Parts: sequence; structure tokens; C-alpha cells
Amino acid sequence: MKLVVLISGRGSNLKAIAQAFKERKIKGKISLVISNKKDAHGLEVAREYGIPSEFHDPSVFKTREEYDIHLVERIKEEKPDLVVLAGYMRILSDYFIESFEGKLINIHPSLTPAFTGLKAQKQAIQYGAKFSGCTVHFVTKELDAGPVVIQAVVPIKPDDTEHTLSDKILQYEHRIYPQAVKWISEGRIKVKGRQVIVEGAEYGTLPVNPALEDF
Ligand code: GRF
Repeated sequence: MKLVVLISGRGSNLKAIAQAFKERKIKGKISLVISNKKDAHGLEVAREYGIPSEFHDPSVFKTREEYDIHLVERIKEEKPDLVVLAGYMRILSDYFIESFEGKLINIHPSLTPAFTGLKAQKQAIQYGAKFSGCTVHFVTKELDAGPVVIQAVVPIKPDDTEHTLSDKILQYEHRIYPQAVKWISEGRIKVKGRQVIVEGAEYGTLPVNPALEDF
């Protein structure tokens, strides 16, 4: 299993995946980390784990498409089995998405299809939702709307803020992203239309809202 990971910032999801490879919970490696931001902390994470990393400057390209053509060429040199978006804060061109169709995944801090786009945690708080969470999904041309690999549910308490909710969701992001990569690396994922089936996975029951009385 060979991964290329794209980042723009903190890189905590990159770290969670890199740690899972290091501990051999997932067999294979991240062969390259690419950032579109020079000062992304994730570049330091890559160094810490001995992963080759590169900054590719979008400002030297005239258009989004030209940058993406350049990136696709660089990524393809690595011959990755999977391209992983981990806090990559750039809209992808159709060309990029088509180039890695079925091999491109993303993590989003909500239970899609709710609260897609930016500031998903703030959207959930402002909406007054009682639960939110995070989603790993295959990337399609529709924003944050591809077939769902795995989701984790996080309750929203009355005193939660955008900040506290983001922190709680992030803890689960760090569990579901390595899990999704592991399943894919083991060849256990089948995509049928919008349905993602995980071979051999056990599905338990979820605790419902503890505020619910016994009816
Ligand atoms: C995460 O909340 C992820 O869901 C979103 O961007 C954030 C990236 O965080 N797509 P990090 O860079 O992995 O720490």
C-alpha cells in the first residue's frame, strides 16, 4: 500500500495515519506528503516520521487547472495506490478528481450530507444539531458528497462551542481515517454506486441520546 497525502495545515490526520503505518497496524507506507502551503505544520510532521515532503507553490501557476496538472504529474510519479486529502484546503479541478477516481479519499468534520463545506463544526452548533461527527468518503466532483467509507458520531452538548466540538470530532477523525486506509489496503472495500461495503466488518449498535427516556 503506497499513499500520497495532501495537506495544507496542522497535519494531525497525517500524523494519525503515519503513526498507524509506523506501528505496522497498516502495511505499506506514505511515500510522499505534498503541501500547497509553505509553512504548513504538517510538513514538520512528515519530517518527524521520515516521510519525503514537498511544498508546491500554487502562485507560480496561472490557473487552478495548471497547478492541478502539475500536481497530478508529480503524484503519478509515485504510483500511489491511494491519494489521501488530509486538511487539503484547495478546491480540486475536475481533471484532478478524474485522474484519481476511486483512489482519492477525504475526511470531513461532519456527518455528510449535513454541514458540507467550510466551518462544518460551527454550522452544526449554529443549526442546533444534537449530534455531528466526521466522515471519510471517496472524492467525487460534488463537494464533500462522495460515497461514505466510515463515519463517527459525536454528541453536541448544550455548552459546546465551535472549539470544543472541533476538538471532540478531531479525536474521532484520528481513529476513522487510519481505519478507512487499513480497510482499503486490505482490499476489503467494495463501492456499489453510493454504497461502500466493508467485507467482514461487524456493525454493533450505537448508544442513542442519553437524554432519551424509556419509551
Ligand atoms: C480536519 O478537521 C479535517 O476534517 C478537515 O480539515 C482538518 C484538518 O486537520 N478536512 P489536520 O490538518 O489533519 O490537523
